[in-house]
Amino acid sequence: MAASTEMLSEKLKSLSVTAPLTKFPNCHPEVNTVDIYRSHLTTILADVTGVDSSVIYPALQWTQTLEKGDMVLPVPALRVKGKKPNELAEEWLSKFPESPLVHKPTINGTFLQFFFKVDKLAQLLIPSILTRGKEFGNNPYNGLKDPEDPSKGKKRIIVEFSSPNIAKPFHAGHLRSTIIGGFLSNLYAGAGWDVVRVNYLGDWGKQYGLLALGFEKYGSEEALALDPINHLYEIYVAINKDMSAEKDQIKALEEAGQDASELKNEGLDEQARRYFKAMVDKDEKALAQWARFREMSIKRYKETYARLNIHFDDYSGESQVKEEKMEFMAKKMEETGISEISEGAVIVDFSKHIPGKAGKSLERPIIKKKDGTALYLTRDISEIMQREEKYHFDHMIYVVASQQDLHLKQLFKIVELIGYKELAAKVQHINFGMVLGMSTRKGTVKFLDDILRDVADKMHEVMQKNQSKYEQVENPLAVADVLGISSVMVQDMSGKRINNYPFDMDAMTSFEGDTGPYLQYAHARLCSIARKAAVPAEDLLNANLSLLSEPHAENLIRVISQYPDVVQNTLKTLEPTTILTYLFKMSHILSSSYDHLRIMGSEKELMTARMALYEAARIVLSNGMRLLGLSPVERM
Ligand code: ARG
Repeated sequence: MAASTEMLSEKLKSLSVTAPLTKFPNCHPEVNTVDIYRSHLTTILADVTGVDSSVIYPALQWTQTLEKGDMVLPVPALRVKGKKPNELAEEWLSKFPESPLVHKPTINGTFLQFFFKVDKLAQLLIPSILTRGKEFGNNPYNGLKDPEDPSKGKKRIIVEFSSPNIAKPFHAGHLRSTIIGGFLSNLYAGAGWDVVRVNYLGDWGKQYGLLALGFEKYGSEEALALDPINHLYEIYVAINKDMSAEKDQIKALEEAGQDASELKNEGLDEQARRYFKAMVDKDEKALAQWARFREMSIKRYKETYARLNIHFDDYSGESQVKEEKMEFMAKKMEETGISEISEGAVIVDFSKHIPGKAGKSLERPIIKKKDGTALYLTRDISEIMQREEKYHFDHMIYVVASQQDLHLKQLFKIVELIGYKELAAKVQHINFGMVLGMSTRKGTVKFLDDILRDVADKMHEVMQKNQSKYEQVENPLAVADVLGISSVMVQDMSGKRINNYPFDMDAMTSFEGDTGPYLQYAHARLCSIARKAAVPAEDLLNANLSLLSEPHAENLIRVISQYPDVVQNTLKTLEPTTILTYLFKMSHILSSSYDHLRIMGSEKELMTARMALYEAARIVLSNGMRLLGLSPVERM
């Protein structure tokens, strides 16, 4: 980092910025070019306004649209008393000195608008993008324990996401959790955090006793090896059918006044209970069978996750919660008077611990059933403690559907009420809405693979419509797969997380509108231009950037300069759409530039400068796509 700071000050000197940049918290000019402007403007404005720079720096805002300038200052934010904002603005404008980096500001209402001198911006920005490459947009300071002292290490965050249930369908909620969680993990990793990706599987409970019985009856080793996920699901469905038939039978017998005790004592339900009891008691055979199902499922999940560029550091799950830990937590709840016995079960009645509506709204969850069985919530309470002990994390995010809002509120509140206040303050639920009508072309979906196969088929059909292009793609099926995945992911990330959205295969695979294929096309087009121009990387670094003076070039430079700020802002919103909206905005500016900033037929020096700009744009697009979890394609 020291070397890049030195290089930067040399560069600034060459641009006649002689005063050293003042340091501010969260100001990192060596990774964010716009921070140079922030610092520079703050120094000027402190002079001009007499206000302390610590007030000015955080008041400078970035803009959503280029017409509004590259940065604005809301005059009232400086809290200067005695004059009206527009008077102050006039006064400051008249005092504003010549700057090598920014034009004289313009006044818009109570705002001062600043436009960067784009020739200088280009010289600071483009070489930095070209040299930082895949790192551009990352800013490692956010995750440092002490931003002033990197030797103190990184903060650690756990992102728990995906968390499907073994032998049960991987539904839309799991899909969204996977997409959003993968993205958040990338976001924090780029911000310098030590990220631990945890998958909390549904893999424990009586139903896995039942599954083992089902395997004895319906299972096949061959089918299991071939496709464990589907096979286990088939078994699960079949054995559950038997189980409900058994229930009906018991009911009928009892209604007829006959003896149902044999079925009750020896039937599937009781056998499943016993089998699960054996698992809990660590019966070797029972555990081995269950472990096999679990491992085979994880192996297959991993393959699917890999298609989405996702990996996990820890496959945890309900089964991994230790009995001892649950006993410990149960005791804690009892001792603190948080839990109580109600009709033989252990419950938490929140209304007794939190006054008013807030307490009532948390309801009365059961912690332990009459028969002693621990529940979903019980396991989560103990799992939080286990994670704290294992990872000593600074923050933890649960990416779970908003249907479980209440569950997570109850969980966090219990942790707080029993006295783990610091722990409760470190955990966060990131929720999301539903996908409506998610189905494959053959009918309802069961597994992620089914959806991915379907969208890939659809993209393959679309690609084949342009035969001449299709023939140039080296591995069309692999590209179709990537495009299909991009379609699904971009549709998912288009709105705010909390919104529901309809699963629309036709819309998501279209090249029209803001879709995954559109974004991929924008990237592939830049790659194709680069291939044809074949300008050596070295020449790009030495390009004469002052030739980039057309309005289209200027806008493109300005919009790509915003990328690091957009990423910083995303750390606040934690919304994939913050990145996505920016990438579409940038791609639109890009696509309107091609006719004005031609490569072929341009003179060599101009061609090199434009190629440097296009390559910088490609890096930004590619980095943004990869941050979202997409794999940018080079041809399609
Ligand atoms: N397996 C659960 C489900 O499918 C999701 C788990 C969410 N995470 C948690 N810690 N409870 O609904």
